[in-house]
Amino acid sequence: MREDVLYTLYQSALSSLERAYAPFSNFRVGAAVLMEDGNGRRRVFTGVNVENSSYGLTVCAERVAVFKGVSEGFRRVLALSIAAVEGGEVRFPTPCGACRQVLAEFSDGEMPIYNGDRVVKLADLLPSAFRLR
Ligand code: THU
Repeated sequence: MREDVLYTLYQSALSSLERAYAPFSNFRVGAAVLMEDGNGRRRVFTGVNVENSSYGLTVCAERVAVFKGVSEGFRRVLALSIAAVEGGEVRFPTPCGACRQVLAEFSDGEMPIYNGDRVVKLADLLPSAFRLR
């Protein structure tokens, strides 16, 4: 994956931050995924974290972005970027364990993840991901 693609994804993730719904943690996350459908068409989907008064119902930005793509017919994640701010300070998170497993369902281990600081591949974050198929 070209570096400029990852950088552009990071800009999209940054732009989505303002739409994060994070009144409880004040940790705002924006994610942008480049996805591909069965016909080779590619599209970027963004997501933000969506918190809830019942805390456990919170959904991370990464899963929102991936599920938006899948529900539009895009089942392959080619690259992901995540941006985050906490109380005005820029943060450089990596996806949580649940999001790693969801990402593994729709991408291979080489899939690059850029958090504004460094690029890692999914397999480095989640070796031996569980798969049924
Ligand atoms: N969060 C994400 O959206 N993505 C991550 O990779 C880590 C955590 C959210 C969940 C919650 O709304 C807030 O960040 C603090 O955990």
